[in-house]
This record gives sequence, C-alpha cells and structure tokens, in this order.
Amino acid sequence: MGFLKKIAYWIDDRTGISEVVKPLAKHLVPPGAKWNYVFGSATLFCFILQVVTGVGLSLLYQPSSADAYHSLDYITNQVFLGNVLRGIHYFGASGMILFVGIHMVRVYITAAYKYPREMNWITGIILLFLTIAMGFTGQLLRWDSNGVWSSVVAAEQLGRIPLIGTYLVQILLGGSAIGEHTLNRFFSFHVFLFPALMFMLIGLHLFLVFKNGISEPPKAGRLVDPRTYRKWYRDMLNKEGVPFWPNAAWRDALFGSVVVICIVGLAIIFGAPALTQAPDPSIIKTTPTPDWYMIPIFALFALMPPKIESYIIVIGPVLTIFGLLALPFISNKGERSPIRRPWAVFGTLCFIVFVGTLLYIGLKAPWSPNFDTKPIYEQVKATNPQMKDGMVLFYKKGCQYCHKIQGNGGENGPDLTLIGRTWSADQLNVQMINGGKNMPAYGSILSNKELGQIVAFLKAQK
Ligand code: HEC
Repeated sequence: MGFLKKIAYWIDDRTGISEVVKPLAKHLVPPGAKWNYVFGSATLFCFILQVVTGVGLSLLYQPSSADAYHSLDYITNQVFLGNVLRGIHYFGASGMILFVGIHMVRVYITAAYKYPREMNWITGIILLFLTIAMGFTGQLLRWDSNGVWSSVVAAEQLGRIPLIGTYLVQILLGGSAIGEHTLNRFFSFHVFLFPALMFMLIGLHLFLVFKNGISEPPKAGRLVDPRTYRKWYRDMLNKEGVPFWPNAAWRDALFGSVVVICIVGLAIIFGAPALTQAPDPSIIKTTPTPDWYMIPIFALFALMPPKIESYIIVIGPVLTIFGLLALPFISNKGERSPIRRPWAVFGTLCFIVFVGTLLYIGLKAPWSPNFDTKPIYEQVKATNPQMKDGMVLFYKKGCQYCHKIQGNGGENGPDLTLIGRTWSADQLNVQMINGGKNMPAYGSILSNKELGQIVAFLKAQK
C-alpha cells in the first residue's frame, strides 16, 4: 500500500492532476438534482463505451468494399468475443441515441437552456446531430445489404433537393452511386471526422456545465432574470449547495454503471445484429430495415405526399435545425417550471407520440419492399427461352421485391402484370436504365442482353 501511495504521490506531484480533479469533484451543485439529471452522464458513458469498442472493431475491420463484409463476418464468427464486441457497439449506439433524446427532453421540459446556459443547449444540439450522423454512417460500414440499402434510400432523398441535390449526393457518396468511394468516405467520417468533432464539443459541453453550474430544479414562480441570475445562483450555492462528489455524482456513477452492464448483458444475450448478406447493388434481398433509430426519419420521407416532398426535404431540416438553435434566443428568461409552461409539455408529448407513430408505421411499412415474395418462374410456363431468362432476372435482380407480377411481389412500385400492353420496349428500357423516384437505376447493373430479356418477359404478359 505504501508503495502505491508513493507512486500516486509522485504522479500527482509531477503532473498536478489533483489540482484539476479536486475542484471538479468538490464544486458545489444545487441540492435536489435527483434522478432526472443522470441522462446526460449516461450518454457520456455510452459514448466512452462506443470509443473503446469502436477502436477494438477498427483493429480488424477492412474499409474496402471487397473486404468489409468478410472482415465483419470474421469478427462476428471467428474472433474470440467478436460478436459481443459488435453487440456492445450496436446496443451502445442505441443507448446513446436513447439517452441523448431523454436528456434533451429533460432539458427542454425544465427549460434548463435559459440564461446563462444558451451555449450548453447549442453545443448539445450540434452533438445530437453528430450522434445521428454517427448512427447513419456506422450502419453503412456493415456493408451488408441492409446498410447499403438504407444509404441508397437516403441518397435518393438527398438527390431530390432542387439545384444542389446532385452535388450533395456526390459529396455524401463520393460519386453518383454507392460504391468503393462511399465506403471509404463513410469510414473516414465515422472514425475520424465526427468523433474528433464530438470529442471537442463534448469537452466544451462539459466545460460549460462546470462553468455555468448545473441548472437548479425549477420552481413554479421563480423566474430567471439574466440581470440577477448569476448572483442569485452563487448565493444559493453558498447557502445550500452540496459537493458534486459524492452527493450528486453517485447517482450518475450508479446509473451509468447499470447502463453499461445492461448494454454488455444485451450484447452477450443477443449478440450483434446479424449481417444480412453481402451487398450486390442489383439484388436487394433482405428486409432493408435501417437501424431502429433511423426508421422514423425514413418513414417520414416515405409517407410524405410526393408533391410537397421536394420542398419539405429542403425546408424541413433547415427549419428544424434553425428552430432548435434559435430556441434559447427566443426565450432565455422567465418561467422554467413545466407546470407553468403547459404548451412546452404538450408539444413534447405530441413530438414523442409523433416519432413513436412513425417508428411503428416504419416497422410495419407496406412501402418497404417485400422480400418474402416467391419466384413465379416455378409455376408460370415460359413460351420461349428469352422470356424464361427475363422471368428469372425479374426475380433475381430484385424487381419483384417492389413490383407485383401476376399476384406475387411487393407493393413499393406499380403492379407490372399488364405493363406490356401499354408500354413499348423502349419505354421499359428507359425506365430500367434510369430508375425512378423510388426505383434504383439499373443502367450500370444490367447488361443490354439482360435488359432485353426482362423486356421480353414483360411484353409477354398479355
Ligand atoms: C426499390 C423498389 C423497386 C425496384 C427494386 C424496382 N422498381 Fe420499378 N418502380 C419502382 C417504383 C416505386 C416505381 C414507380 C415510379 C417511379 O418511382 O418512377 C417503379 C416503376 C417501374 C416501371 C414503370 C411502371 C409504371 O407504371 O410507371 C417499370 C416498367 C419498372 N418499374 C420496372 C422495373 C424492373 C424491370 C425492375 C427490375 C430490373 C424494377 N422495376 C425494380 C420501384 C422499384
């Protein structure tokens, strides 16, 4: 023991670590900061878990379209505890999104963003979007059909933005379609750019929490007045403040530990989400469910009437981001208690119900391709070999996941049973090569011969 103490003394003497840690641990916080204050630190616990497991995964992951899928397959099935490692990273991401959301709702409901904590809120909003961006880019790194499909959908939405849409897609995907460059790009974003930004912003966020103090639990009728608040807060702390450690921080430590244990437990029991098969851009086979936290966003875009969609895709996110950032400037003083701010509470409830509904709809969406569809070439007799090949391609290249044909298939696109009556071969070719609003372009995927075979098949359906 004496020896360890000496080492500790030596380190402290040479670095002065305790001069930093002690004031942090002992600084006074308002009394009554109870369990609803633990969600911010729970998010931080998840973030640290993500960094640790992320570094672990990056040791074995190969960010190239030729090897990515197999390297993950290797991590999952060969590496000792590899599946658990992936599982922790997956459930950790879910936890982080969940707690970021709850933390934000808590801050909003108790109006903790008001003076002097406007910058806490603004850095928090940027962190929220970075967290979502991490989820989105991480999903593609799996490089299975699920991840790739989800990114195709997102790129499609982005591409519809007037004027700059195509450029944005280029920037996001590193080209006009998903490929090698996309994976490299997402890997860089996910592993270098976004985490670096997050480290900086989390540092700033925590510094601000320390500098401005934890918001005191609101009391109805006690108004925030920027002219007197800081003095009032200092006096209140001097009178009734309690040291952060252990009086307040033990809850953070306990809750954070429980969160970490739960995440590890879930990872051990359920493991990582199974990889769907390796992506082949022409075959979109598995249920293209994006990870659950992305589903509301996808559902929202899928359900919007196409006429207004192009506008909403541009205006919606801009308004949302702008509104969230503007909030503490619109109202930074006055009442903080949720009892006196019923509209804020009501609005939050509506928002939660709205997102929940989107998630529910998204999970059972009829607009998502139907992957249980049975090939029809087993029952239907082909009249000539070309048509036969077209029928097989129609199934194998994924057309049938979105299009019904003779009663089989998905409902994402129109029923094609009778299309041959009204559409010429040229029209059909153009549609396949260029794709459509919600249909991938097959120009670079199908050869001329294959296009001809599918056309022959569709024309034969009279
Ligand atoms: C991801 C789902 C999806 C896949 C896969 C898909 N399509 Fe489509 N397709 C659609 C949608 C949605 C439309 C509706 C119009 C649009 O979005 O341009 C459509 C439109 C069409 C049309 C025009 C029909 C009309 O009445 O407007 C044809 C023909 C067509 N697809 C053929 C194909 C063929 C052939 C394949 C396979 C090579 C295929 N599609 C794959 C979703 C899909």
